[in-house]
Amino acid sequence: MPVALVINGPNLNLLGFRRPDIYGSTTLAHLESLCRGWGEALGWRVETFSSNHEGDLVDRLHEARGAVDGVVLNAGALSHYSYALHDAIEAVEAPVVEVHISNVAEREPWRRQSVIGPACVATVYGRGIDGYRHALSHLALRRAWPGEPHRYGEHSDQVGDLRVPGGGGRMAAVAILHGGFWRHMWKRDLMDAVAVDLARRGLVTWNIEYRLLGSGGGYPQTFADVAAAVDYLAKLEPVDQDRVAFLGHSAGGHLALWAASRSHLPPGRPGARPLVRPRLAVGLAAISNVAADPGLDGGAAGEFVGDAPLAEVSPFHMLPPDAPVLLAHTSGDDRVPVEQSRSYLRATSAAGGDCELLESVAGDHFMYLDAAEPAWQAVADRIVEALR
Ligand code: DQA
Repeated sequence: MPVALVINGPNLNLLGFRRPDIYGSTTLAHLESLCRGWGEALGWRVETFSSNHEGDLVDRLHEARGAVDGVVLNAGALSHYSYALHDAIEAVEAPVVEVHISNVAEREPWRRQSVIGPACVATVYGRGIDGYRHALSHLALRRAWPGEPHRYGEHSDQVGDLRVPGGGGRMAAVAILHGGFWRHMWKRDLMDAVAVDLARRGLVTWNIEYRLLGSGGGYPQTFADVAAAVDYLAKLEPVDQDRVAFLGHSAGGHLALWAASRSHLPPGRPGARPLVRPRLAVGLAAISNVAADPGLDGGAAGEFVGDAPLAEVSPFHMLPPDAPVLLAHTSGDDRVPVEQSRSYLRATSAAGGDCELLESVAGDHFMYLDAAEPAWQAVADRIVEALR
């Protein structure tokens, strides 16, 4: 059974008591037992360690060399200045995921820098204690099928993970876009399970990162990134250009549907002149209309598109789409109302487009990101079928 080591650094022993407004009310003991449970659900054994002393953390990382399959590390304030920890992380050889409970990118400026980040395989922050669950899941899915990072631009967020099934020949591919209301603490690790599952089904998967609100994104940057990222598939030798799907969840669903509506863009706009035309676009709990729910996540959509014309940024206003669309949404979704998908279905059909909605009574907004869920499997079967 693979082993993960969860390490908490200085002051995290006071979790639950120190600044609960920032770090929440869960104690360290409770967090560690949650981590053991999350690990167990993934088939991993979780060991835990906590110390307020830099040298102890370095020693524990050294002990982990060759003895663990992955590390989840919240080094607290040391993350921002400990080069000794950076070097210890490099020395451990197993993949290390950096975690912060709080949104370090929106606190004091000194917390925005991490000197350990470059030695880690991923950084998860601003997701509360759930970030530890995401970090463990990332370790497990990397181990199941590691993505190969490819850059499609100069910016650190212009990157994606490519998974290419064996077998050779030209293969169908899926470009995957994660959600998170276009905000920077949500990254492509959210789509790891979907990417691994589709790759196991014999499809090339391209799990895309892009510039987000708070890290250089918005209109037009994010749109330019998504266009460049999906067009990057045209450069990949094993990909059969005629058998490509775009898939996105939530705000990533918006981007996937937008990428499949690019023929409506006036010449010269970011994303006009697509290189890759999808055979199918899939929106999971997708935000298809950025004007319909201005209150979503504190006004994220308005912040994201600014004054851009809806006809260039909102799939609902760019109909019909360039490809058949498959939507999946749970009726009780409390993050993105199901009406987003129902109204897109009606409007697309009225515009002569081809759209289908798989509506699920049970489940929540995140259900489709769990590869074990029958609702996801139904979607995956449809993708495989469409790309045959
Ligand atoms: C922290 C963020 C650090 O800046 C801080 O010094 C901590 C906790 C977090 O989990 O959000 O101690 O790592």
